[in-house]
Amino acid sequence: MRTVGVVGGGLMGAGIAFSVATKMDCKVVLREVSANAVSAAKQRFDGMVQRAAKKGTPAELTDKWVSRMQYTTELDAFSQADMVVEAVFENLELKRKVFADLDRIVPAPKLLCSNTSGISISMIGGATQHPERVIGTHFFNPVSVMKLVEIVTGLATSQETIAAARSFCEQLGKETILVRDFPGFVVTRIGQAMMAEAVRCLEQGVASAEDIDRGMRLGYNYPIGPFELIDLIGVDTELRVMQSMFEEMGETFRPSPLMKSMVAAGHLGRKSGRGFYEYKKAE
Ligand SMILES: NC(=O)c1ccc[n+]([C@@H]2O[C@H](COP(=O)([O-])OP(=O)(O)OC[C@H]3O[C@@H](n4cnc5c(N)ncnc54)[C@H](O)[C@@H]3O)[C@@H](O)[C@H]2O)c1
Repeated sequence: MRTVGVVGGGLMGAGIAFSVATKMDCKVVLREVSANAVSAAKQRFDGMVQRAAKKGTPAELTDKWVSRMQYTTELDAFSQADMVVEAVFENLELKRKVFADLDRIVPAPKLLCSNTSGISISMIGGATQHPERVIGTHFFNPVSVMKLVEIVTGLATSQETIAAARSFCEQLGKETILVRDFPGFVVTRIGQAMMAEAVRCLEQGVASAEDIDRGMRLGYNYPIGPFELIDLIGVDTELRVMQSMFEEMGETFRPSPLMKSMVAAGHLGRKSGRGFYEYKKAE
């Protein structure tokens, strides 16, 4: 593998780029939509590098990671990529458009992966001429810390593609589970139902966010509670995921009015400095 492409440099795209740059000896091409978005993605990547440096990673290593990165607004930059991971907003039409473009630019049978949290891989693959090379690689946040990748197969995904995706994840030091294409896969489906129910408890005044989080941490031994998790994921991203799950799976996932108001007010969680909790600075 000489070049790995990443489409989208938000929370997840920057995290995936960082994992690849730190674990694989190859170039990483990260594409964003505008010069501003490119500089935000670069800041995210550089922030992760600085945190590693503070923890004692030597400069020769962090310099190497930084030198592996190439930032661009051009999709054509992927023409030399050996594989591409997509991490744009959770929206079917947007993802189908990105995959149709990638399919033209990246010659088959090179691997095209989506980091979707729950959108159908068959529907994304259906926008391409080569759906057999389209697969879900669902990383978790923060990417460099979380061990799991859900590997999601669409109806047309080939065995070769599954093997290539597994090998990619192994090179990043991840553990994988294999999941058939179904809305929300496994982890999102179960996790979103829990988070949607937690938000309903809060809206109905059953308990405070702090107490709901404490309850789930102490009662179920969760490392963090549902509101801490939504703030970490991003309230906007979480709302998009719930919307898309609601469209496919119904009432359990109905997007919360409270979260809609929070997004409109810019309370997006850790990344904006305020969500269900307040943070000293945007993280
Ligand atoms: N946030 C999480 O905890 C989490 C966890 C697992 C999976 N996911 C999934 O990962 C994907 C990305 O989520 P995120 O949290 O990084 O979102 P985000 O909002 O932080 O970032 C999305 C980025 O995509 C960029 N983008 C939009 N259209 C683009 C295009 N055509 N080309 C290139 N870039 C484009 C945006 O400018 C933005 O920077 C979603 O599908 C989400 O469901 C998120």
